Amino acid sequence: MPYAFDPRLPYATTIPSQYYTEGHFLDEENRTVFGRTWQLAGHAGQVREKGSYFTAVVGGEPLLIVRGNDHVLRAMSNVCRHRAGPVAKGSGKKPVLQCGYHGWTYTIEGKLHATPELEGIECFDRADFSLPAFQIDEWQGLLFVNLDPDATPLRDFLGELVSDMPENDYDSFRLAARKEWELECNWKVYVDNYLEGYHIPIVHPGLFRELDYPNYRTETKRNYSIQFAPTRRPERIRTTGADDQVRYFWLYPNLMLNVYPDNFSTNLILPLGPRRTLTVFEWYFRDPETAATNNALADTIAFSDEIQLEDIEICEAVQRGLASRTYESGRYSPARENGVHHFHGLYARDMGLIAG
Ligand code: FES
Ligand SMILES: [Fe+2]
Repeated sequence: MPYAFDPRLPYATTIPSQYYTEGHFLDEENRTVFGRTWQLAGHAGQVREKGSYFTAVVGGEPLLIVRGNDHVLRAMSNVCRHRAGPVAKGSGKKPVLQCGYHGWTYTIEGKLHATPELEGIECFDRADFSLPAFQIDEWQGLLFVNLDPDATPLRDFLGELVSDMPENDYDSFRLAARKEWELECNWKVYVDNYLEGYHIPIVHPGLFRELDYPNYRTETKRNYSIQFAPTRRPERIRTTGADDQVRYFWLYPNLMLNVYPDNFSTNLILPLGPRRTLTVFEWYFRDPETAATNNALADTIAFSDEIQLEDIEICEAVQRGLASRTYESGRYSPARENGVHHFHGLYARDMGLIAG
């Protein structure tokens, strides 16, 4: 019997293990999941000035994010129209970009500018060789790209997330720290793990002591979910608003937003291969340069590191378990794993795993 996702949580079985182990599913995910959703590509601070750019990869697609001399923000292909070389590397600020293969140049707005040693070529019009553009939009200082020209606008995709985020002037927050981790597991192992608090008592004893675990709950919305984590000692884990709750937001398929009163952090989960994942953590503070922020940042990162190391260990063990000849698919805790089931439902829809 082929697998079909059951939208009824009490009856459902989890996504079969081969989706976590076999390479060809990643190619399919790049088309149907990463190729159609709004993906975090960077932050507005990276392209504030005219002529500034940075490179990114979304769904396996090399991208160039620029602020044109006309001040327009653009996401373009970072693939040269000659023979597919890299138009730009890293980040910087330049009036024209020179391909790293044979030196064709492009304006910062993506128009083909100069083509050395092309004398004698026929039927060639530079105007036909501009860099293709993709949809890009900004929210809370974060830059999102969508590779699908028919995708719904970013605000529609975010839905009520825009109003569910606690009120704050996030646009004024600045990047204060960044940390990358590489894991030996499929990207979905890490996302599944993030989406439930069920493992906290076993995997995170330190965090467990800080939380009012019985009242930990997950709310699922169309393209995102929120985990509400009531704290026992709000002074240790600084909370949002008057309700002493930390809010962990997740946006389908691979972005987490952890929101506190004076800072928020993003966790971006990127597949490097079927069994290898990069997690990028970035912390944004209102005043990154002050001593108070430095102390808060050091505390925040130390606590995050402790939890991340515990999560990495369990995720890598789970990846080995998923490869076992004895394991195929599991079940969900109705009380504790509605967030995982919600993710799997969106994933099953995009991967054609829903019956009927
Ligand atoms: S591939 Fe870019 S100049 Fe040849
Ligand atoms: Fe965890």
